[in-house]
Amino acid sequence: MSKYDFIHKSLNDRHNGQLLRTLRTIKPGQGMEIEVNGRRMLNFCSNDYLGLSKHPLLHQRAVEFMDLYGSGSTASRLVCGTYECMDQLEKKIAAFKGSETALILNSGYQTNVTLLPALADRETLILSDELNHNSIIQGSLLARCHVQRFRHNNPDHLRELLGNAADNKTTSRILIITESVFSMDGDQSDIDTLINLADEFQALLIVDEAHATGVLGPNGKGLTFQKEVDLKMGTFGKGAGSFGAYIACSKEIRDYLINFCYGFIYTTALPPSIIGSVDASLELIPEMDRQRQELLEKADLFRDAMHKLGLNTGASTTQIIPVIIGDERETVALSAWLEKNGILATAFRTPTVEPGEARIRFSFSSLHKLEHIEDLIDIISRWCR
Ligand SMILES: Cc1ncc(COP(=O)(O)O)c(C=O)c1O
Repeated sequence: MSKYDFIHKSLNDRHNGQLLRTLRTIKPGQGMEIEVNGRRMLNFCSNDYLGLSKHPLLHQRAVEFMDLYGSGSTASRLVCGTYECMDQLEKKIAAFKGSETALILNSGYQTNVTLLPALADRETLILSDELNHNSIIQGSLLARCHVQRFRHNNPDHLRELLGNAADNKTTSRILIITESVFSMDGDQSDIDTLINLADEFQALLIVDEAHATGVLGPNGKGLTFQKEVDLKMGTFGKGAGSFGAYIACSKEIRDYLINFCYGFIYTTALPPSIIGSVDASLELIPEMDRQRQELLEKADLFRDAMHKLGLNTGASTTQIIPVIIGDERETVALSAWLEKNGILATAFRTPTVEPGEARIRFSFSSLHKLEHIEDLIDIISRWCR
C-alpha cells in the first residue's frame, strides 16, 4: 500500500481505456503549419480562428505596453490600482459588446469557475445547458447551490425547469448559463429565445461567447452584441489571438463583481503585454469581415464533403466541425491516420464528450488555404475507403 496507489491506478485505467492524455512539444511554423517533434504538420485544432496570434500589430502593441508599464502588473487591481491601459481596454470591450461596461478577468476558465459562485447563494438554482464547457460545470459545483442541466439547445425543457422553479418558493434566484457557440459541437444557441425566457422568469442570463468572439455576429462582435444578456463572457485566447477574458455587463453588475468575484479580487492582474495585444486585436477584429466570410466558406466546404462521405458532423454550423465517429478506438485510429498524413487534429473522448460520442474536432482558421482543406478532405476520404 503506497500513498501513490491512486495515481498509478488512475493513470493505468486511462492508459488501458486508450484515454491517456499526454503533451507533445510543438513549434509554430508559417500560417497554420506547425512542427511536431521535428515534423511539419498542418494544424486543424487551434482556436486561432482569425490567425491573430501571429499578427504584427498584436506583437507591436504588446511590446509597447510592456515598455510603458513593465512586464508584470505586480498585484491584484484592488491592491495597487488599475493601469490606465486596462481602463481603456475595458471601455473598448464594452463598446465591442454593446454593453454598458466590462471587466477583464485572467482567463475564460477562471471567469466561469469564479463567476457562478459569485452570483449564487445556497438557494440559487443554476440552469445549465447539458453540453456546457467544463469550466461552467466546475463553476456550478463550486457555487454549492442547486444545479439542473437542460437538454442541449432545448428551450422547451428549459421552460419546464423554469416553471418548476417558479413554483418553488425557497429558490432565491435563477441563473441560466449557456455557450453561444458550443466548443465540442460547433452549433449555436438561440440567444433571443433565451433572452425572452430569462425575462419572463426573472432569471439572470449568462452567455459564454468563447468561440463566437471575433468570428460571428456583426463585425465579429459575437452573438450577444447589443442584446439584453445580463452577463456576456468571452475569452481573448481564441479568435482574438491573445489571452485573458472579459465579462460585459451593466455598471451595477460590474461593481458587484469587483466586490464579490474572488477570481477577480484575489489574483494578480493580467500583464500589460497581454493587455496590449488584446487592445490591438479589438481594433483589428471589426475590420476582418473578408477573413470571417472566407473562414466560414471553408468550413462549409469541409462540412459538405464530410456529409458526402456519410460522416456525421452533428449540428455544427460554424468554424468548429466535429467528425463524430462514436467508437473510441476507431476515433483514435482516424486520429493516427490523420497524423500519419501530416494533419494535427485532436481526438476528443470521454470524459470531455459523452461515452460513445468520440470525435475528431476540426477547427478552421482564416489562415488555412483552400488547398489545405482539399488535402484534408482527400486524406479523410482515403481513410473511409
Ligand atoms: C466555452 C468555453 N468557455 C471557456 C473556455 C476557457 O477559456 P480560456 O481558454 O480563456 O481559459 C473555453 C476553452 O476551451 C471554452 O471552450
